[in-house]
Amino acid sequence: MCGIIGYTGPEDVLPLLVQGLSTLEYRGYDSAGVAVIDHAGELQIVKRAGRLDRLRGALEGRPIHGTTGLGHTRWATHGEPNDPNAHPHTDAVGHLALIHNGIFENFAELKAELEAAGHVFRSETDTEVIAHLIGAIRDEQGGDLASAVRSAMKRIEGAFAIAVLDRHDPHTLVASRREAPLVLGHAEGASLLASDVAGLIAHTRDISAMLDDQIAVLTPGGITITDLEGYPAEAHHYTVDWDISAAEKQGYDHFMLKEIHEQPRAVHETLLGRVNGEGRIAVDELRGGAAVEGDLAHVDKIYIVACGTSMHAGMVAKYTIEHWARLPVEVEIASEFRYRDPILTPHTLVVAISQSGETADTIAAATHARNQQAKVVAITNVVGSTLAREADVVLYTRAGPEIAVASTKAFTTQIVALDVLALYLAQLRRSLFPDECGDHLARMEMLPALIEQVLEQEPAIAELARTFAGAEYVMFIGRHVGLPIALEGALKLKEIAYVHAEGFAAGEMKHGPIALIDQGGPVVALATRGHVRGKVVSNIQEVKARGAVVLVVATEGDTEIKEHADHVMYVPDAHELLYPILTVVPLQLLAYHIATTLGRDVDMPRNLAKTVTVE
Ligand code: G6P
Repeated sequence: MCGIIGYTGPEDVLPLLVQGLSTLEYRGYDSAGVAVIDHAGELQIVKRAGRLDRLRGALEGRPIHGTTGLGHTRWATHGEPNDPNAHPHTDAVGHLALIHNGIFENFAELKAELEAAGHVFRSETDTEVIAHLIGAIRDEQGGDLASAVRSAMKRIEGAFAIAVLDRHDPHTLVASRREAPLVLGHAEGASLLASDVAGLIAHTRDISAMLDDQIAVLTPGGITITDLEGYPAEAHHYTVDWDISAAEKQGYDHFMLKEIHEQPRAVHETLLGRVNGEGRIAVDELRGGAAVEGDLAHVDKIYIVACGTSMHAGMVAKYTIEHWARLPVEVEIASEFRYRDPILTPHTLVVAISQSGETADTIAAATHARNQQAKVVAITNVVGSTLAREADVVLYTRAGPEIAVASTKAFTTQIVALDVLALYLAQLRRSLFPDECGDHLARMEMLPALIEQVLEQEPAIAELARTFAGAEYVMFIGRHVGLPIALEGALKLKEIAYVHAEGFAAGEMKHGPIALIDQGGPVVALATRGHVRGKVVSNIQEVKARGAVVLVVATEGDTEIKEHADHVMYVPDAHELLYPILTVVPLQLLAYHIATTLGRDVDMPRNLAKTVTVE
């Protein structure tokens, strides 16, 4: 949710923090703030409600020079997004500054205790309470900042990551985490911390992901990590292969548009190395332990758990896994999964899908499954993420950093990774002949070129978007694998254009939703070639008969569809189960161009955050 950045090293820290925050702003943008220990040893804090630009404005003409600092961009949980509630927060005497991501569950109790001891709070946040707590512990027990943070960690409950600096120790940052992400960056003569890797790749690719209840002390000379008892500990160390250009717009107006256009390459990367010389699936991760392969061979039930767009990718996978691997699949919203006592056995496979690998609900669902002896496969885009570490095995989507809040390339690559998993299971279970698996893989390798063909239609889709931009309500309908794409098309439009949109199973329209149709209301229908095309065409006729204006996504060459549609967006011919990877692309572009026509802030839509680290 919130974005966190910290640096201690030789460079002037303020521009570096602001740059880091611009990379992390997608995590939350209700307010932004920085804390710097200046060359005079004073703690300087500037923070503003609203977007990062407001902070930039506040910093103009205020020369703050120092080499150690923290920056924060907020997605509000406790307290409205105003200046006092913005991070960083200080302790009672204003000597230390703290930023945080997540929630401190027992903050009310700690606050009451501190108030009884005379503390006065200037904000409504849980964050300020912890800043005061650490300051009070430090004053009481003496010692260094790390010892105070260690003691405070033993008293705090919740899921959070924190970073603290202290003017008495001007070249040190102290950080800790519990069930919320925090990564450390090792650079030449400098140490960094951030809520995710995107904030660090301008400086280093040498990363350590902190584990729960570790305390990191960052100085320009390096980072030391200990556990809550003060014993040396090790974080999860890795190297990222993303470079900084991946986290920049590269000439596109928005990250979302750039990421839509990156899909051919992203899909190619996800498929890379998944096929061996004999055309068989070679998923090294899944074969990582013979035990895992053995377990997968004996799976008798699959649950897919995820949130948002990732859940829609899971819905697509239900069709492929059931059809190819002949295993029953249930798709669950992660936030519901563990609260309904699902039946999990050692033969259950739980596939947890999360672009970020940090979505609290998805992680909680995966952890619950593992505790019940089920096997967990994670499908994620972020190496070293919490979900990746929680799972028995990980299939990475390799889409590169996704910055726009609305997910696009993560979605298509998740489907590709899930298709690979489906074929792998089919191979293990011999539910498909080897040459059938090979044929499907060969078709999947054509996907990047086919997505390119869809992208070439962008000017026509942008034109259509201008026609539909005035609509108050857009319905999306589909059957079979078209249904999750209808849901995803509607979600994209809601998220970034703030247009009321819903996806429906086309066959369900007559059981209620068709009552919403009135003269001129737009309906987007998924009607590519396949065994349900004729049925969808009937449903299209039903809505047209009631005055809907119908925009159809159909297969190239299907000229007959024009008789039923007001507008058509074509995708190239493909295998029925692979269509979602193509049909979602025009819907992404449609939502994008409607949003820009309406003047929306596409990359940072109101009220949303890219990575939702609270339940
Ligand atoms: C947020 C984002 C969505 C995303 C969902 C799940 O709501 O705005 O775009 O689909 O989280 O995120 P994940 O990282 O778990 O895929």
